Amino acid sequence: MNDQTVNPGLEDVVAAKTRCSYIDGEGGDLVIRGFPVDVLAEAATFEESAFLLLHDRLPTETELAEFRSVLAKNREIGEQLCGVLREAAADERSVMDALRIGMAAADLGTNSEDDEALAKRVIAVVPTIAATYWRYRQGYERVQPDRDLDHAENYLYMLNGSEPSDETAIGLRSYLNTVIDHGLNASTFAVRVVVSTESDVVSGATAGIGALKGPLHGGAPGPVLEMLRTVYETGEPERYVRDRLNAGERLMGFGHRVYRVRDPRASVLEAAAKRLYNTQNGVEQNQWLYDTARTFEDIAVDQLAQHKPERSLKTNVEYYTAVLLAGVGIPKELFTATFALSRVAGWMGHALEQLADNRLIRPRSVYQGHTSREWIPLEER
Ligand code: CMC
Repeated sequence: MNDQTVNPGLEDVVAAKTRCSYIDGEGGDLVIRGFPVDVLAEAATFEESAFLLLHDRLPTETELAEFRSVLAKNREIGEQLCGVLREAAADERSVMDALRIGMAAADLGTNSEDDEALAKRVIAVVPTIAATYWRYRQGYERVQPDRDLDHAENYLYMLNGSEPSDETAIGLRSYLNTVIDHGLNASTFAVRVVVSTESDVVSGATAGIGALKGPLHGGAPGPVLEMLRTVYETGEPERYVRDRLNAGERLMGFGHRVYRVRDPRASVLEAAAKRLYNTQNGVEQNQWLYDTARTFEDIAVDQLAQHKPERSLKTNVEYYTAVLLAGVGIPKELFTATFALSRVAGWMGHALEQLADNRLIRPRSVYQGHTSREWIPLEER
């Protein structure tokens, strides 16, 4: 019964074929639908990247205008969902909890036969749920989405109640394009598992949100920001790393299941953060963050190499996510939800791919429990 080989964490197990993205963990390359991540990060609008994820090709001008308008139309949420988000805010739930609750409560038409239309509605509504919830948490009224703004601009508009500067919108766009898809990561796998049962893509997205929340996946950038603040305030980076590692803790923003070199997304986000911090006066108060991140990275990587010479622990995407999103003016409580705003397009690309050639995802387990217990009546236990 127990002679099967178990692969905990499914490490190196190949469980799907995909045309969405390609990762070379040894070489440090990421290609999304045929485009190197750095090209996509700089050239595309989020709408172009999302279309690319859904259709495996770039949109024409007409298709892009239509896609943009479908997303803009479907951003709006009703009073019922707002009520649910208000209640979640009164309970002081985390933003990711609110996103999960909101996604489950959103009236997106899960009975629809049209998975692609539903996928677009899912992508459209995530920023509205996150921003509306955050407004309520701050004790403000919500800001209605503006159909004339693009996806990135509108998110910042709904958060702040004013239109963002070009630099900030560009910074956010680069971020969204960079993290839109990444092979069979934990949340994408969760989405594929759900839709493989022929459930619906909204349920898939809800599962994805749950998986993304954890600090081993999308929950790391908030702790990265706190780490960099502590390092900056104490001025003792070496000691900080030593103390954490001696306490058996992990350094947030370092290490990866697939990459053995610096995560290519870290380089793209570092460049985007540098551009933003150089060009925008508004982030001058955060300059310490960029500078601390630059100097602390080398120290942390050196000490991690001594700590785990056999593992090659390098900077991952979450490290410069914290720096870039802070520069964009996103509060750290919203970092993971902002990740979801983008990754949901990758989830939907994978969901449609799974559904187009579906096979129920149903692995097996090795039983390790008792085999022949004798039932004891309740009164005798
Ligand atoms: N700091 C200290 N030690 C580490 C770290 C780290 N950041 N990452 C891995 N290790 C150690 C780990 O303790 C283990 O040691 P041992 O063999 O003694 O138990 C060894 O390195 C191998 O680690 P692992 O747990 O087998 O690695 P994994 O592939 O399961 O984990 C990871 C990958 C990202 C979960 C992990 O590196 C980690 O926890 N990093 C910190 C959290 C973080 O930055 N999360 C964001 C991940 S990137 C976002 C994404 O792509 O989703």
